[in-house]
Amino acid sequence: MTTLDQLFETAKSARERAYAPYSDFKVGAAILTKGGKVIAGCNVENAAYPEGVCAEGGAISAMILAGETEIAEVVVVGDAALCTPCGGCRQKLKEFADGTVKVHVADLFGIRRTFSVAELLPAGFELK
Ligand code: THU
Repeated sequence: MTTLDQLFETAKSARERAYAPYSDFKVGAAILTKGGKVIAGCNVENAAYPEGVCAEGGAISAMILAGETEIAEVVVVGDAALCTPCGGCRQKLKEFADGTVKVHVADLFGIRRTFSVAELLPAGFELK
């Protein structure tokens, strides 16, 4: 199995764990860190809707807890034509990924499109 296959399978499994009773739209994400770790996340919704956390955000939190801060590659899995990260998650990814990092967007059967972080978030905010 290639690393990309492994990332896809990890994101797909994470998606099964999603808590999405309000949208009924489950998402899984897998991050490969530059340190070689594969870290998963899933969306976790809340009755107060804006408090929900996206799969990518959850994976980033888990990555930080695992002691990693540099993203090498990302796979997002959702049962949609194109489950691209939301605007907020694009900015969150940018914090830990350079513009060339690939974000693969997959449905349940495989990767459908690949974007760079810079493509997803041109002119993203930087404090310094
Ligand atoms: N969602 C994600 O977790 N990641 C994405 O890339 C797109 C959307 C979640 C947020 C919400 O829980 C549900 O999908 C429907 O928008």
